This record gives sequence, C-alpha cells and structure tokens, in this order.
Amino acid sequence: MLNWLAMSRARFISFEGIDGCGKTTQLNLMAERLRARGVNFIATREPGSTPIGQEIRKILLDSKTTGLTSAGEVLLYYASRIQNVEQVIKPALAAGKLVLCDRFNDASWAYQGFGRQLGVEFLRILDDLVLDGFHPDHTLIIDIDVETSVKRAQRRNTAQTYDENRFETEAREFFERVREGYGWLQRREPSRFFQINGNRPVEAVHADIATLFDEWLE
Ligand code: TMP
Repeated sequence: MLNWLAMSRARFISFEGIDGCGKTTQLNLMAERLRARGVNFIATREPGSTPIGQEIRKILLDSKTTGLTSAGEVLLYYASRIQNVEQVIKPALAAGKLVLCDRFNDASWAYQGFGRQLGVEFLRILDDLVLDGFHPDHTLIIDIDVETSVKRAQRRNTAQTYDENRFETEAREFFERVREGYGWLQRREPSRFFQINGNRPVEAVHADIATLFDEWLE
C-alpha cells in the first residue's frame, strides 16, 4: 500500500465532463479516500467557491436568466474563475495542498468554445489574458454518451430544491458539441488529460480514478 500521507503535496487536479457524467460524485469519493489517508487537500468548484463566485453562479445557472450573450456568459465564468484562482487555489497550492477542482478552464473551452461556438481562438486569448498560463496539472474527463447525460441531468435537477437548470434546456446537439470539445482538448494535450468511461457503475469509475491518483501522487 502506498504511503499517501508522505505523498501529500501541491498539485492541481480538475474533474471534467458533460452534465450528468458523475464527476461531482467521483470527486466526493476521491475526497473521502484522501481524507481517510490524511492527505492535505482542498476541494473547490466552478463556478462558485468564493462569495463573488457564488453570486456569479446564481446568474449563470438560474433558468430565469435570459438574454445572456455567449461572450457575456464566458466572461462571467472567467470572472468567477479568477476569484477562485487568486483567493482559493493559489493560496492552497502555496501552502503545499493538493487541490481538486470540479471543472476549470477546460469547461469554458468545451461549453462556450465548442457548445456555444465561440471558437478556440476566443478562448485562447481569454485564457492567456486571465489565467496567464495557469492550468491544472492533471485533468480527468469522465466521458458518457449524450443520451445518458441528458437523462441523468434531468433526474438530478428534478430532485434539487433550487433552480440550476439553465443548461438543461439546451438541445442535444449542444451537448454533442461540448463532448466533441472535450475530445479535441484531449487530443491537443494528451499528457494532461485522462479520459475515463463514465458509462459504468460508480465503483468501477472510482477504482480507475483511484489508480490514476496513486500514479500521480507517487
Ligand atoms: P456543474 O453542474 O458541474 O456545477 O456546472 C454547472 C454548469 O455550468 C454546467 O452545465 C457546465 C457549465 N459550465 C460552462 O458552461 N462553462 C464553464 O466554464 C463552467 C465552469 C461550467
């Protein structure tokens, strides 16, 4: 058994995938595992994770939000992101903590760059300006088919007491483009991305992720 406690160190790992892919469940399972092993880590998410990010999240995900342009949308995601980077992620890394993030900039490339068709050049410029090369060390993409995604996301949103449904009203083609976007990102930077088949039981997906973490934290 690997000594995880001795391996705790600054590293930034993001979890990505289309809506309903199970990344939040998987992040929580990994957080439990890390906690049990005494690893010094934090879990954060986007949009959200800071007081300003939480306010921005409400605007972005509330289905009552109308008239938001694609450029306006992506700028709000980056506004939330830079608050998270400066106030949460960088301080944690500086303190030697492992950082798990439920979505990061790749979500904007996939959802706004591909889904909304803003294009990769728009996202590249925004990334350079706002993040200045800051990016996760490793990114997990939990891949599921669009059919499953739409079903799971709808189930989740009917169970929620608050309204975060704005993206669930998108057409199927939107999620196809987002999924293609994640594929494109992985082909562009194969050393950072790891695709996991999310069309399997939670435990099987978790086992694969745990194996990857063992390698990364070695
Ligand atoms: P969540 O359900 O994973 O919390 O994400 C919220 C929604 O926001 C989800 O539909 C994906 C979308 N999103 C973007 O469109 N662009 C982004 O940059 C991020 C972080 C999320």
